[in-house]
Amino acid sequence: MKIAIVTDMDALTDAAADFFIARSQASIRENGRFSVALSGGSTPRQLYARLAQPALASRVNWEAVHLFWGDERCVPPNHADSNYRMAMESLRVPIPEQNIHRIQGELSPEEAAAQYEKELRDFFEETPRFDLILLGLGDDGHTASLFPDSPALRERTRWVAAVPHETPPPPLVPRVTLTLPVLNAARQVIFLVSGAGKAERLAEVLHAPTVSPSLPASMIQPDDGELLWLIDKPAAAHITTDRFG
Ligand code: 6PG
Repeated sequence: MKIAIVTDMDALTDAAADFFIARSQASIRENGRFSVALSGGSTPRQLYARLAQPALASRVNWEAVHLFWGDERCVPPNHADSNYRMAMESLRVPIPEQNIHRIQGELSPEEAAAQYEKELRDFFEETPRFDLILLGLGDDGHTASLFPDSPALRERTRWVAAVPHETPPPPLVPRVTLTLPVLNAARQVIFLVSGAGKAERLAEVLHAPTVSPSLPASMIQPDDGELLWLIDKPAAAHITTDRFG
């Protein structure tokens, strides 16, 4: 696990964009394609907009990029709470339509999860090894839509789970989420964590002596991949980095 502490949200966005571009170039060079699962929420929006700026967008071969999502709210794609909509509004780049693997939030959670799992199995065949997965940290310690003590955290066979979601954090709609086996199969996972509001929970997650279902983000431990926590100073307020070597 690596931890990179940067000054603020802008610096975090710049660093995340550099990692995204470098990982895309390496993956396309090695395998002819780059598979990335995007995070929802508010933090990554600025990153997606930054990647769409011509000076950066010109450094990515978008024709070979395949966009997926780590999770989605069960709402239509044009809904204000849709992670797909947020990404499409900000990541305005020339990705072929067939390379955008949307979770169909307009379906029932179970149907959307089944459809997404089929799409993943068609794309990855044996092992769903994303080149890059972007994740955020919820105030309650959730990541993707794996919420504290959720039964979905025990899923070891299915790649996608439908989860009910009736208590905060909002929006209180059912979700579809990648499961831990998929998240931990990635070549690289990058957490983007910004703001003082995350500081206490982030310290709990990073200082946790063992992984804990009450802190789902602590359960992200890639089997054979790189884990990077990209954090700004306000979010890092309670971290003692000497604990990490
Ligand atoms: C979602 C996200 C979720 C998000 C965290 C952090 O669908 O809401 O996937 O896991 O990453 O809640 O959200 P912020 O970046 O808005 O703090």
